[in-house]
Amino acid sequence: MILPSSLYGFSRRGFLGSALALGACQPAAQSQTPVAALPPLKSIAPFPVGTAVQAGHLNDPALARLIVAQASQLTPEWEMKMEYIVRDDGTFRFEAPDAIAAFARTHGLGLFGHTLVWYAQTSPAFERLDEGRVSFAQAYRNYIHAVVGRYRGQAVGWDVVNEAVAEDGEGWRDSLWSQRLGAFDHMVLAFQNAREADPNARLFLNDYNLELLPKKRSTFLRLVERLLAAGAPLDGVGTQTHVAADQTPGEMARTVAELAQFGLLVHVSEFDVSISRAQGLIPNRADLERRQAALYGEAAEAFMALPPQQRFAFSFWGLRDSESWLKREDASDTPLPFTASGEPKVAAAAWAKQIGL
Ligand code: G3I
Repeated sequence: MILPSSLYGFSRRGFLGSALALGACQPAAQSQTPVAALPPLKSIAPFPVGTAVQAGHLNDPALARLIVAQASQLTPEWEMKMEYIVRDDGTFRFEAPDAIAAFARTHGLGLFGHTLVWYAQTSPAFERLDEGRVSFAQAYRNYIHAVVGRYRGQAVGWDVVNEAVAEDGEGWRDSLWSQRLGAFDHMVLAFQNAREADPNARLFLNDYNLELLPKKRSTFLRLVERLLAAGAPLDGVGTQTHVAADQTPGEMARTVAELAQFGLLVHVSEFDVSISRAQGLIPNRADLERRQAALYGEAAEAFMALPPQQRFAFSFWGLRDSESWLKREDASDTPLPFTASGEPKVAAAAWAKQIGL
């Protein structure tokens, strides 16, 4: 399969033409007390253990070693998204995702593609597309085929549509994609294009706050039903599970159980438990860390309660606290299973205990 190298299909890097038209509480950082040695998480789990990763992380020998030791599947944190791949002139770049893919191949790790269609990323090249040269639908197809096709035979799956449900659960989000290709049809097209590009990759609808907002969870479930009824090639559902330490106990378990109702694969796709986001309500850090560990245990127990054939993967949104995206919000946050120095935390032990250590 020859893959397009731009939204327009083939284009020499040098071609600019009407480029625009072409468009395309605490003082210092806290690290939680580590626990005694814990076997590698992936050696405990009867399912793939994933982690978000950036190409730059792979140049840190300690982090690279931790990733290989602990994880069996990698999700590019941002470099397999439109914001990295699509240049303003509509051409594509793949250096970073290729580096992650190569690392995964070298170390026998799975590769999970994230994410193809997201309201939060549209790219100037799409916004200013010269439709005299290619229709919007064709550019959309070219992009999905180029990205999914590039990792065909390696990627175990894809977040095809990310965060389609409105923040408050009232309907679906408006986006460039919904405006140009239809509120529902753009989703069906995305799944169909991804299936054509790689018949063996498992295709997911992914969203967040499903454990926090029952209304959002319900709207998500209704969307899943509608996609299935429309014949969209949907294989699984991803619940990102970015939670705070004051998350109501039991809601994650309820969410995972409800998501399993269609018999589809379930992916806990971006797990972390923020301490900082809960500090307003629970000022005592020791109490927060206890709650964090309990939530790690709940998530693990809920995932283990799934029928084995529905357990796609349990992915952390990073392994070491030092790499968490949440550090940008509050440098003192410690949401991940390992300390900045790569030691397992009480939360990791709580997770492992529920998985079967
Ligand atoms: O590394 C580059 C740096 O070289 C450059 O100078 C700078 C300015 O352009 O960008 C840096 O890359 C940033 C990257 O994070 C690494 O820090 C990107 O701009 C920034 O957009 C990217 O943010 C990512 C965000 O998604 C948007 O893609 C976060 O890392 C990532 O954790 C976050 O992940 C999302 C999931 O995809 C969806 N669910 C929510 C989750 C958290 O927001």
